[in-house]
Amino acid sequence: MVNDKIIIAIDGYSSCGKSTIAKALARYAGYTYVDTGAMYRAIALYTLRHSLQNDEDVINALPLLEIGFTHVDGAQHVTLNGEDVEPYIRTLEVGNAASRISQIKEVRAFLVAQQQQMGVAKGIVMDGRDIGTVVFPHAELKLFLTARPEVRAQRRFDELVAKGEKPVYAEVLADVNDRDYRDTHRAESPLRQAEDAIVVDNSDLTPDQQMQVIIGLFEEKTNGKQ
Ligand code: DC
Repeated sequence: MVNDKIIIAIDGYSSCGKSTIAKALARYAGYTYVDTGAMYRAIALYTLRHSLQNDEDVINALPLLEIGFTHVDGAQHVTLNGEDVEPYIRTLEVGNAASRISQIKEVRAFLVAQQQQMGVAKGIVMDGRDIGTVVFPHAELKLFLTARPEVRAQRRFDELVAKGEKPVYAEVLADVNDRDYRDTHRAESPLRQAEDAIVVDNSDLTPDQQMQVIIGLFEEKTNGKQ
């Protein structure tokens, strides 16, 4: 039987709702969802826990790390050496550390190899920064999500409040801008739109409207064959 399943690569700036839309699309298509940002965050957590200060120490630690995924109540949680670390990786501190360690070439090679392995059987929705450009340059459907920085800062602010943190909006906005700068200017696999990616700016779309747009693109790509 022909495998009609495709690879869907979703890239874009931080806090523009990539994971929400990627999860919803994976559910709709019956595909596996992989949050690559969580993999970088898991390594970042390890470096914070072990106070690894320089790149060399991080690189030397890579062979000791096993990053995986597990399912808890239908939600995907990232694991670090078998421990479910999902509760610890969504803080600003870990996000900033993830942004730093994601600039290390060896860290990227370590994770990219694992991510490519996950796509061998297709039927996957993967989100990140370099999925359509580096991990799956031949993905059948590439989406590049974006939203205005102020809109993204407000979304992140609301998420942090919901988690019981006490963020300051101006700091969250500065953080979004800093992270955009780092993500787009790093030497290794900077965030950029693949030439064949479809740009979706969701600043003024409701989640439902965005989902309709994306389902339309998926159906068009697969001709309803899924
Ligand atoms: O999407 P996120 O905020 O969870 O990602 C955390 C950090 O990891 C972010 O600063 C960029 C980096 N990242 C990356 O460099 N490449 C990816 N494929 C995914 C995330």
